[in-house]
Amino acid sequence: MIKAIVHADKEWGIGKGNDMMFSLPEDMRFFREITTGHTVVMGGNTLRSMPGGKPLKNRVNIVLSRGQVRDDCIIVRSYEELKNELKNRQNEEIYVIGGGEVYKELLPYCEQVLVTKVNAVGGAEVFFPNLDEDENFVCVYVSEPQMDNGQLICFTTYENLNVQPL
Ligand SMILES: NC(=O)c1ccc[n+]([C@@H]2O[C@H](COP(=O)([O-])OP(=O)(O)OC[C@H]3O[C@@H](n4cnc5c(N)ncnc54)[C@H](OP(=O)(O)O)[C@@H]3O)[C@@H](O)[C@H]2O)c1
Repeated sequence: MIKAIVHADKEWGIGKGNDMMFSLPEDMRFFREITTGHTVVMGGNTLRSMPGGKPLKNRVNIVLSRGQVRDDCIIVRSYEELKNELKNRQNEEIYVIGGGEVYKELLPYCEQVLVTKVNAVGGAEVFFPNLDEDENFVCVYVSEPQMDNGQLICFTTYENLNVQPL
């Protein structure tokens, strides 16, 4: 099963300057709990934005990149290659973890999207598709709001009513 996991501001903004806009330790803890032991998929910019530019520990990391050469993660060179890699992992729990380009391309194949909503506007340069305006997606869960390092956040789940085969 493929899912996406993201935190987004009130405008569905997800990043600027190839970095996150907010420091959210509670959301980070949630992200770690959900993804650890599973497979994560990301674009080259998101890998570059990680601490030390390193892949995530205790997870299989698949990275879409035209240019990067490395042996600490699985690199795929095109969406076609990425989809083939994911087809061979149908029995795994796969999380699309960003960024904007990769979310947008893989959204049709995601059964669920876990969106941490941040009640702020961060001045984003990169955005997630607005799922509230997408007829294929319905919000099925919204947590109680909570504070996270000075930001009001809530955890939400969207279901894709029109999942496409890889
Ligand atoms: N809020 C969140 O939850 C969250 C999560 C993740 C990321 N982000 C943010 O999102 C931003 C990054 O997103 P982004 O859209 O700039 O980049 P991205 O989706 O992470 O990666 C784009 C990169 O993917 C590779 N790529 C794209 N299309 C390709 C293709 N057809 N074939 C081969 N490789 C391809 C290229 O990598 P190479 O350049 O290596 O060739 C390209 O530069 C950052 O600000 C980051 O902090 C936010």
